[in-house]
Amino acid sequence: MLLIIVFFLVIHHETGASQLLKIPITRVQSRSSSTHNCTVLQTNVTVCNRISPTFGKVAVVKSSAFESLVNEADTYFYGTIYIGTPNQPFLINFDTGSSDLWVPSSKCSSACNQFNKYTSSASSTYIANGKPFSITYGDQSGASGIFSIDTVTVNGLAVRNQTFAECTSLSGMENDVNDGILGLAYQSLTTGGEKPVFFNMWSQGLIAEPIFSFYLNPDTNATTGGELIFGGVDSTKYSDSITYIPVALEGYWEFQMTKVTVGSSVISTSPYAIADTGTTLITGPTKQVKALNAALGGTYDSSSGMYTVSCSTRTLSSFPNVVFTMGGTDFVLTPLHYLMIYQESSSKYVCYSVFAALDSEDADNNDFWILGDYFLYWYYAIFDINNNRVGFAKSASYNWTPTVDSSLFLGTATTTSAGTTTTATTTKAMITTTARFTTTTTTAKVATRNTTKAVTTPTTTRKIVTTTKRRHHRHGSRHHHWHF
Ligand SMILES: *[C@@H]1O[C@H](CO)[C@@H](O)[C@H](O)[C@H]1NC(C)=O
Ligand SMILES: *[C@@H]1O[C@H](CO)[C@@H](O)[C@H](O)[C@H]1NC(C)=O
Ligand SMILES: *[C@@H]1O[C@H](CO)[C@@H](O)[C@H](O)[C@H]1NC(C)=O
Ligand SMILES: *[C@@H]1O[C@H](CO)[C@@H](O)[C@H](O)[C@H]1NC(C)=O
Ligand SMILES: *[C@@H]1O[C@H](CO)[C@@H](O)[C@H](O)[C@H]1NC(C)=O
Repeated sequence: MLLIIVFFLVIHHETGASQLLKIPITRVQSRSSSTHNCTVLQTNVTVCNRISPTFGKVAVVKSSAFESLVNEADTYFYGTIYIGTPNQPFLINFDTGSSDLWVPSSKCSSACNQFNKYTSSASSTYIANGKPFSITYGDQSGASGIFSIDTVTVNGLAVRNQTFAECTSLSGMENDVNDGILGLAYQSLTTGGEKPVFFNMWSQGLIAEPIFSFYLNPDTNATTGGELIFGGVDSTKYSDSITYIPVALEGYWEFQMTKVTVGSSVISTSPYAIADTGTTLITGPTKQVKALNAALGGTYDSSSGMYTVSCSTRTLSSFPNVVFTMGGTDFVLTPLHYLMIYQESSSKYVCYSVFAALDSEDADNNDFWILGDYFLYWYYAIFDINNNRVGFAKSASYNWTPTVDSSLFLGTATTTSAGTTTTATTTKAMITTTARFTTTTTTAKVATRNTTKAVTTPTTTRKIVTTTKRRHHRHGSRHHHWHF
């Protein structure tokens, strides 16, 4: 989505004088404009950065860093960081569902060939650490290597002496577009007890406020996938007031909701939830998600592990809203917010509900929901480490209106707008979650389903893999992997 800010032309008429005071009109270019600092990475992904914007409403906070994100196949949000002196670039998945930073190491052999690799010997600011690092995600894939210390630069903000992992072994990462992951959750969720990047950024005085915020763009046609701002918020990207909810348990960004309702049915009361940029869908405990989808008229599809609804025989208004109530505010998702419309062929569509079952437990053994990208598309999110709270406000994209095929919803969607029609060759290719389901910081407890299934559809060969976590994607791949 283009960001265009216009300062209105102001003309002062002075009586008796033919003098006009003109304030120039300034147009701010799209973030993908060539005026920005772009890096082309090995995956043919161009990532553009801007350093501390000083114009328009984007300059909301002095010395905030502005990270322009790439929405890759609508599932991951990437940006560039640099490690070392001089800078070594990495394409990074910014993830509020984990806390470690890791990148591939130059000491990694063939497993890391397609990635940017960190070379400690080429950096004058490298400090050896050498303690082993290993992270395992829900589906048993992971990364391991050793911890090292170096300068990590994010949009011109140089975080000194950051402990991160350089990985020599990766499993299940072969087809990733990103080189590594930068976790934005709390220190207690780290693998090695290291201080996470954002906490160092704050303690080293690099940002004006101890907050970061995400805008995720649901429009897959847009040139930018979203924005991550360290040290501030972009008030052009949300409307209405911000509702803050206290963090209940520091680890994930975890908080307690008041209730989840669908239409007039209460699905869950006082459930815990995490806000996770690294998870595509909205997940919840199996029993509750089952009840929620039943209220939507959904049918469980064992091949994908998701629920489908009929959007060819029902009008849009026959689908109830799903409401997450928290902090005294109702966060409403309308049908076109929570349905993924997947085009299988020129005339065949499958409509999936974004509510998927995933039994996740926190360190206190509480079940939690994951408010992933399908929540964050519609609600701007602010993460505050000083007040330990998460804020949500209606996203600038809440009323985003792409075209829905007129054959759907008995034609009622064309006047309603807002929806996502995706094609077999592009988006929604995978459902991921980076959330690690741990009971302690050192022992990974997998409390998730793990089913792997291959399905052949009449029109395209589509491998649907339902596993417990994040992953596997290649630009332009013909195979679609569904993960959550
Ligand atoms: C990047 O693009 C070039 C030129 O279009 C192509 O030859 C190359 O295979 C691409 N690399 C990858 C990793 O897709
Ligand atoms: C682009 O960004 C990098 C990293 O912040 C910086 O080192 C470089 O000088 C920038 N280049 C331009 C032309 O601004
Ligand atoms: C980084 O570590 C070096 C070596 O231990 C030390 O001299 C320097 O003061 C540290 N810098 C910061 C910003 O912590
Ligand atoms: C993306 O753009 C194409 C071509 O303009 C259009 O047909 C399609 O509906 C758009 N997709 C979305 C999700 O807006
Ligand atoms: C998950 O399923 C895959 C494929 O069947 C299997 O290789 C793997 O061991 C399973 N993981 C767990 C934790 O059961």
